[in-house]
Amino acid sequence: MQPYILKKSPPLCGEIPVQRSKNASLPALAAALLTKDPVTLLNVPDLTDIDNMLALISSLGVTVSRELSSVTLCADTISAASFSPEHADRLRASVLLIGPLLARCGEARLLLPGGCAIGSRPLDQHIKGFCALGVRFSVADDALIARCDNLRGTHIRLDSPSVGATENLLLISVMAQGETVLDNAAREPEITDLISLLNRMGARILGAGTTHLTIQGVPALHGASHTPISDRIAAGTYAMMTLATGGDVFLRGANPSHLSSVLHILSQIGAKIIPDTDGLRIRGAKLHPVSLFTAPYPGFPTDLQPPLVALLSTVPGESFVTERIFEDRFRYLPELRKMGANIFVEGGTAAVSGVPALRGASVEATDLRAGAALLLTGLCAEGETRLSGVPHLLRGYTNLERNLTGVGAPIVLPDP
Ligand code: EPZ
Repeated sequence: MQPYILKKSPPLCGEIPVQRSKNASLPALAAALLTKDPVTLLNVPDLTDIDNMLALISSLGVTVSRELSSVTLCADTISAASFSPEHADRLRASVLLIGPLLARCGEARLLLPGGCAIGSRPLDQHIKGFCALGVRFSVADDALIARCDNLRGTHIRLDSPSVGATENLLLISVMAQGETVLDNAAREPEITDLISLLNRMGARILGAGTTHLTIQGVPALHGASHTPISDRIAAGTYAMMTLATGGDVFLRGANPSHLSSVLHILSQIGAKIIPDTDGLRIRGAKLHPVSLFTAPYPGFPTDLQPPLVALLSTVPGESFVTERIFEDRFRYLPELRKMGANIFVEGGTAAVSGVPALRGASVEATDLRAGAALLLTGLCAEGETRLSGVPHLLRGYTNLERNLTGVGAPIVLPDP
């Protein structure tokens, strides 16, 4: 795909419609496999991660129908044996299909999942919980094979509050026999949203929003329709792009209550933030350096670490950003340094010295959120930036070019 051609942007001004959450939509699609009834998701974001997940799901025999932004899945027949490898290796969220396949078929065969190049991303917490519920694992070629006769509820304590493991164990335990308790669970808004959908499908889950979840198994689930929550990471990304250009943007549909730690940091940096009934307005001002670390929700989200570091590269003074979730999430820094960023990393902490001006360069996105960081930098650097690796961005940001050009960003796709 053609690279983006970026130039220094005037202040971004106007309104950006914030998409529904990618990371809430993906587990919701997996949840639809738990019932023979139709499940409809409304306002699903138009993203390649969603396309890949739907292709993988339909390769399992599930009927998928899409009409504008609504998706209806009907898993009246489902077969674990026919997964389509070409989609599984590009999508970390494919691992979320293991739970529903085990619950429905007693077997799951999936390629070891792909996803972003931000760390080893093991599955030990998923496997620990599955084994506790009675699942047996084997590996054949490069596929993970899981089997179970009947799933029995039990008490599981995660070693770390893994988002994916929490989602997977919710998906498998809703139809296990008896009660399952999940301790040290993650409590991201996307998990609360999944619990809301599952309970609407007839599940009996208590403790949403806490680290202690209790699931009473039920014999079967029924269909439902659901609108995923707003995408807090997309909203945070657009907010940082607004600040980087000294703009004034209304983020329609953003949910400030899912962004508390992010808005706290942006206010510390100097942003003016005005929450509203259907979103929030953010205005640039004189920006100041800040120090923070990423953490599980409600802490500062790791997915906004790259765009934040890019923003801080333009802020006079010394900022310190510590990444505590993924061990390799500073991989994009060499590309940022090509544009003049002055960043030194030691022991998981990036020391960011703001520079008076960044300079345009040819750079490449190595993953989704790294792409967002480089796009932000290209909008505030002097001169032209050629940003390649655009497909990474389209995995997670809907209508990205239209949203940004609509508030004045000079993004040009070169002639094909
Ligand atoms: C989800 O990934 C998100 N993806 C990620 O967003 C997000 O960065 C991450 O949660 C953290 O918030 C989706 O929801 C599709 P984890 P996930 O399991 O579930 C370690 C984006 O840009 N870990 O909470 O894979 C793991 O290595 C993506 O939208 C284990 O050690 O994240 C990591 O260091 C990127 N063992 C940490 O926990 C396990 O079994 C957090 O991982 C599982 C995870």
